[in-house]
Amino acid sequence: MNKADPQTAARSVPDPAPDPVSRRMRDTKPSASLEAAQLARDLRSQGRRVISLATGEPDFPTPDHIKAACVTALAENRTGYPPVQGIPALREAICQKFHLDNDLDYRASQVIVANGVKQIIFNAMAASLEPGQEVLIPAPGWVSYSEMVRLNGGVPVVLETRWDDNFRLRPEVLEAAITGNTRWLILNNPCNPTGTILTEAEIRALAEVLERHPQVMVLSDDIYEHLRYGSAPYFTIAQTSEAMKARTLTANGVSKAWCMTGWRVGFAAGPQDLIDAMRTYQGQTTGGVMHPAQFGALAALTGSRAFMGPNLEAFRARRALGVQLINETEGLSCHAPDGAFYLFVNCAPLIGATRPDGGTIASDADLTRYFVEEAEVVCVPGAAFGLSPFFRISFACGIEVLEEACLKLRAAVARLTPAKQGPSA
Ligand SMILES: Cc1ncc(COP(=O)(O)O)c(C=O)c1O
Repeated sequence: MNKADPQTAARSVPDPAPDPVSRRMRDTKPSASLEAAQLARDLRSQGRRVISLATGEPDFPTPDHIKAACVTALAENRTGYPPVQGIPALREAICQKFHLDNDLDYRASQVIVANGVKQIIFNAMAASLEPGQEVLIPAPGWVSYSEMVRLNGGVPVVLETRWDDNFRLRPEVLEAAITGNTRWLILNNPCNPTGTILTEAEIRALAEVLERHPQVMVLSDDIYEHLRYGSAPYFTIAQTSEAMKARTLTANGVSKAWCMTGWRVGFAAGPQDLIDAMRTYQGQTTGGVMHPAQFGALAALTGSRAFMGPNLEAFRARRALGVQLINETEGLSCHAPDGAFYLFVNCAPLIGATRPDGGTIASDADLTRYFVEEAEVVCVPGAAFGLSPFFRISFACGIEVLEEACLKLRAAVARLTPAKQGPSA
């Protein structure tokens, strides 16, 4: 047949392809820090000399004794499916770590190993949340908490902290936010992005509030435990009492202090029923962490920590330089962080400023975009952490890189025409 039959033609128009993405995923934001890091990689691949201050990743290599343990595990053909909850020797070493560092005693059955603290938190939410239950998250806070809560049917509830109070979570703010539907409080101490560390007295005051609300569990994300610039001993909420320990999941890992971000090993200890449920979830989704990485983590936790001292001194020097350069820049200011390796920079005076091309800086996201275009420096806007107008700088990079980047930011800021009166943060 030469002439197309109109009915056949109509029938041959393909049906529109089904939308492959769920509404839940459509509502999920990509990780702003990973996106910013990818932007830096993409620009570099186009030949631009971009500096990334986006990721929280130490520039030091993983120590040799850890790499050697991984290589040995491979040479010994430890390449089969690993136990879902973690190899027994690593879980024993984690129990030792909690005992020695935090004065917390757990059985190995109460410990689980996962692909980073990221997977620990996701699995904890998946294993515990009923639809619509609330999770309290101090803001500013790590970019992934609220998305993980949403992905698991929960409702993130923001706990506000203030710049002029150095972002400390106050007991009265916690008390006011708790409802009969509150399932979790997430604490992150030292905090990403602010570097604030709550003191033992402050943590005890929060625990006192929680004692009045026994339905609330606590997820303490202690990933920056070993990156602290003061001399106060570390304190984590499970230490406040046996009752609090019984409803706390204490998460930690080797990514930051042991320079093992790419190894993907995190761990947690907590109530047996929760750990069992997390193991079931992990067993049905990813399985255990690859053996060689677990043997590397075992060497990390049982081996010498001598390398941490010089690393911390390097971070301390970068912190001092970064704080100085930012605070010398008209329109920018930051507190010196107590821990972690980030500066959370207040850029309120620059909101409303005009770019050299006539555009307006209406938000912190506009400012970080301007920094990429004008200074070739990538930072993460405060909006991603739940507080504007700020941006986050990671000083986990080399000190020369940090200096060059801060001076470029300063020069870019100097090319802005300030608004007559900027809003305050
Ligand atoms: C507060 C916080 N928690 C967890 C993580 C993720 O750690 P991991 O590499 O163990 O998944 C990060 C990484 O940036 C972080 O900043």
